[in-house]
Amino acid sequence: MEKKWWHQSVVYQVYPRSFQDTNGDGIGDLKGIISRLDYLEYLGIDTIWLSPVYQSPNDDNGYDISDYEAIMAEFGTMVEMEKLIAEAKKCGIKIILDLVVNHTSDEHRWFIEARKSKDNPYRDYYIWRDPVKGDVPNQLRSIFSGPAWELDETTGQYYLHLYSKKQPDLNWENEIVRQEVYQMMNFWIDKGIGGFRMDVIDTIGKVPDKEITNNGPKLHDYLQEMNRATFGDKDLMTVGETWGATTEIAKLYSDPKRKELSMIFQFEHMSLDQEEGKAKWDLKPMAVPELKQVLSKWQTSLGEEGWNSLFWNNHDLPRIVSRWGNDQEYRVESAKMFAILLHLMKGTPYIYQGEELGMTNHLIHDISEVADIESINMYHERRSLGYSESEILRSINAKGRDNARTPMQWDETAHAGFTTGNPWLPVNPNYPRINAKQAMADKESVFHMYKQLIELRKKNEIVVWGDYELLTETPPDVFAYYRTLGQERWLIVCNVSEEENQLTVPREAKEVILSNYQIELPTGEVKLCPYEAFVLRT
Ligand code: GLC
Ligand code: CA
Repeated sequence: MEKKWWHQSVVYQVYPRSFQDTNGDGIGDLKGIISRLDYLEYLGIDTIWLSPVYQSPNDDNGYDISDYEAIMAEFGTMVEMEKLIAEAKKCGIKIILDLVVNHTSDEHRWFIEARKSKDNPYRDYYIWRDPVKGDVPNQLRSIFSGPAWELDETTGQYYLHLYSKKQPDLNWENEIVRQEVYQMMNFWIDKGIGGFRMDVIDTIGKVPDKEITNNGPKLHDYLQEMNRATFGDKDLMTVGETWGATTEIAKLYSDPKRKELSMIFQFEHMSLDQEEGKAKWDLKPMAVPELKQVLSKWQTSLGEEGWNSLFWNNHDLPRIVSRWGNDQEYRVESAKMFAILLHLMKGTPYIYQGEELGMTNHLIHDISEVADIESINMYHERRSLGYSESEILRSINAKGRDNARTPMQWDETAHAGFTTGNPWLPVNPNYPRINAKQAMADKESVFHMYKQLIELRKKNEIVVWGDYELLTETPPDVFAYYRTLGQERWLIVCNVSEEENQLTVPREAKEVILSNYQIELPTGEVKLCPYEAFVLRT
């Protein structure tokens, strides 16, 4: 495989609203990100995935865009955006933008025009259908609850929205829409960005009349066309958000020969704690043997025909240390263990802001504390279906997206140093204990583990290119694997449990490269402490 810069990168996701406020309005901003570039440089990352900063009425926190070529006033100005790109570059950091083109905001100029009349030139930018027997055209459901069709009174037709009513779906069948998108992408490429993260890109080929949403028949034609029209001949990185991707589908997107994307986010491992065939809110415990099976399959299946992304967290997911670790007694140990488990795998790792501090979920006790549209809509839907209040709150505490969106915890001052004003979402009350200032000063912190892991990847080809092999002779909750490159072989051992476990180290180890407990060189039969993890050269 031809080596690219992004094969060796570690990406850090910034959710601008919650990162750093500089003017006291309680909302993170571009100046705030610029002011923290030195922190990110010190951590060692080389790429930022920036969640949307475009003009938006914020029905879905910026994922509802009303102008792709303007900056949200709350975040700053285009001049500041250009400054962010330039300042980041000086720190050796590229900026990846979030490309949200499955839908726009209903306040986008195109939609405002489109809904005026059936013969408006913009009408066909969106997806309109007549009522069927006085009701919705078909049974398609919105990801944010309720029907995916909304009646527009002016013309008596329904428009499609796979997300909120304020996020009408673009009509990708319309060639003019596709050209508009490519032009907009080139506008940003010309500004010197490093690439795109593509929001729910697997639904742009939808066939609404057949109720097909993901993986529609023309999806890959569109991506190849996009590649040719925009980033194809540039050295950019692209990553598609594709919820239902299998390893075979992943190859369609990321086989370099097919000229589509660099890699995708697959979510198979993220569904291991939900009841099969049900929604993310329908909880079940994660079983470690399944995690081993799923991640190992992804590690070994793509070969030369694709590239993995590696992640536990993003702005839509609960904090990993709370989700599958122990955010109380073993917070530091389990956060480090999950970091080691992921960062020694093959692929491009992504860190979501605060993950490197071992930030935790934020418990709520009442629906009035929730800001996220997805949780709020689900709450109302499930209440009307008869679910109990406490059951719904349990789901929101486990899976709600606000968990990831509480402000970044910088220091022990008021509001964690995020803002001098009133934060748009309350800061997690544990900030006096868990914050960046404390973590940077403590060599044993989660932060320093992430820093070391990033450095290991930069200095050792084996971490980037080594082959992966799962160790099968282990207790069920021990996740151990080899990486091998030429003569070099590393063994990674992770006890994904707060119970002790035993393991026989199969080969003579030469050196402990990294560990989350103070240990001697392990040989033969070893006892693993709760959430213990280590990396050996063998
Ligand atoms: C993606 C984003 C999510 C957003 C949705 C609609 O899943 O990650 O935050 O709500 O798309 O744009
Ligand atoms: Ca601000």
